[in-house]
Parts: sequence; structure tokens; C-alpha cells
Amino acid sequence: MATSPTGIQDRSETSVPDPVISLRGVTKRFGNNTVLKDITFDVPRGKITAVLGPSGTGKSVLLKNIIGLLRPEEGQIYIDGEPIVGIAHKELLRIRRKFGVLFQDGALFGSMDIFDNIAFPLREHTKTSEKEIKALVLEKAEMVGMVAHLDKLPAEVSGGMRKRAGLARALILDPEIVFFDEPDSGLDPVRVAYLDELVVSVQKEIGCTFFIITHNIESVKRTADYIGMLYRSSLVRFGPASEMFTSNRALVKQFLAGSSIGPISMDEMVDAARGEDEIQALIAGPADADAPEVSTNGA
Ligand SMILES: Nc1ncnc2c1ncn2[C@@H]1O[C@H](COP(=O)(O)OP(=O)(O)O)[C@@H](O)[C@H]1O
Ligand SMILES: [Mg+2]
Repeated sequence: MATSPTGIQDRSETSVPDPVISLRGVTKRFGNNTVLKDITFDVPRGKITAVLGPSGTGKSVLLKNIIGLLRPEEGQIYIDGEPIVGIAHKELLRIRRKFGVLFQDGALFGSMDIFDNIAFPLREHTKTSEKEIKALVLEKAEMVGMVAHLDKLPAEVSGGMRKRAGLARALILDPEIVFFDEPDSGLDPVRVAYLDELVVSVQKEIGCTFFIITHNIESVKRTADYIGMLYRSSLVRFGPASEMFTSNRALVKQFLAGSSIGPISMDEMVDAARGEDEIQALIAGPADADAPEVSTNGA
């Protein structure tokens, strides 16, 4: 990735070598509320990318735009180089077949056992025989350590197991990209650490792209190859995790330290009191020569 002499890239240089997802100038509004403002970045193929931001900052809205559940007012989103904003629904469905999604709490069907939950996308979208379904479900269940619990209902297993079952279901159609919305929600820190280990090992095993949105910094430290920082509707920075964690920018540093001391608060309500100029100054930050900053979003 090319960097300028100051170590700071401008927006035209943000592209990664082989992007599987690209956002260009994505703006999403609900009435007067601009939730995402001019978001531009590329997600590298075959890596774990995490987008980190305080709650209420637009992470779920970002994810829904990328998977085509919401449509941005401005900008374009490319999946494997194909634009998805404004295309026919049928085309969108075809592209969505490349996706697996793990929603908060696994979003399993409560009346189906874990086996049927994992098998569901196969039965819904393919003509796979029951014999093959069994083999595929066992393969994915093995990957996430759920083979011993396939005959249980979601309510009969722990929260961590429900996440693992949700992950197996997200993997069952061999997706190119797996999306995670706050995969740690509802889990205690020890369970989150186990899930993170699983996420990393499964991604290594299958090699597809994982895209995680979260506000859990510890989790991001354990899992992410690339990190995007969302703050007040803007993408503050996007780059390799190693460079983000050694950044000298006050905003990036504070964010990734999870510190309450610094320019921002993890509580959007506190920051809502700040003036727009002050926020923009924080996002732009003082340029520093010794920290290898990767990308900026129009700052
Ligand atoms: N369907 C919707 N209609 C109107 N406003 C929405 C909708 N979905 C999200 N929002 C608003 O967008 C903002 C960001 O929400 P969200 O993406 O869920 O935050 P996060 O996932 O970062 O916690 C919030 O202010 C929320 O009220
Ligand atoms: Mg959310």
C-alpha cells in the first residue's frame, strides 16, 4: 500500500490490492438525520475487517447498506466490482448469495433444533439432498464445535453456543463474505474471547472475508487484520490493524485504547453537545510524521 512521505494517504490512495467490498461516497439519511456521511473505503479479500464505533454511530446502518437491506441516498457500493445501489431486486438476490450473515444473538428459529437451523439456508435456497445436507451440517457444526448439540433447541443451549450455531448457519452456503453485527452482544468477556478465537480459526480454515461491526475494542484487537473507525457519521480512519494500533493521532489512540480520557466519548450523547467545527477538527486531527497513518476519509 502506497504512503506519502508524511505517512498520510489521501483518499485517492485508500484502495487495497484486491477489494471484495468497496464503498464510494456513501451517504445515508433518515429524514434530517445523516447517519453515514460520505463513507469511502475498501475491504480486502480473505481478511478479517472490523468497523469499530460507539453505539448509535451507524454501524448497523452501514452493514445494512452493504448487504442491500437499506439504500444510500448518495454513493455506490461494489461487491466483487459489481455496483449494488440501484440494481434490480433479482440481481441483488444473486449477489446476496455470496453473503453469510451472523446477526445479534444468532437470530435462530426457536422452534427448530440446531441441526435444522444450520440446514435452513440449504433447504430454502438449494435442492441439496437430505443426505448431503446432513454431511454439510456436520462439517460446519464440527468447525464451530456444535456436533454434540445438534438435536437441542436454541433455548436449551448457552448464548455462546447460539452464536456458534449462527456462525455455522452463516457458513452453510460457503459464502464469500461473512458479516457479523456485534457478535459479542450478550456474552461475558470470557465467552467473547472464546468466540473471537473461533472466529479467527474458522476464517483461517475457510479463507473467506469476514466483516465485523462492533464497539468491542478488546475483541477487535484479537480478531481484526484491518480496522475502520466510525465516529459521528464519518469514517475517521481505515487501515491495517498494526498501523491503527501504533497511530499517534489523538482520536485513533483514544478510541483504540478504549479510554474515557481524550477527545471523544464512547457515549454519543455526551458528544452530541460538541459543535460541528470541533468535531471536524477532531476527525481531521493533527498530522504527525512518525505515525504511519493509512487512510483518511476526505479529512
Ligand atoms: N430504519 C431506521 N429509520 C430511522 N432511523 C434509523 C433507522 N435505523 C437506524 N436509525 C438511526 O441511525 C442511527 C444509527 O443506528 P445504528 O446503525 O443502529 O447504530 P449502531 O449499530 O452503531 O449502534 C441511530 O440514530 C438510529 O436511530
Ligand atoms: Mg448496531
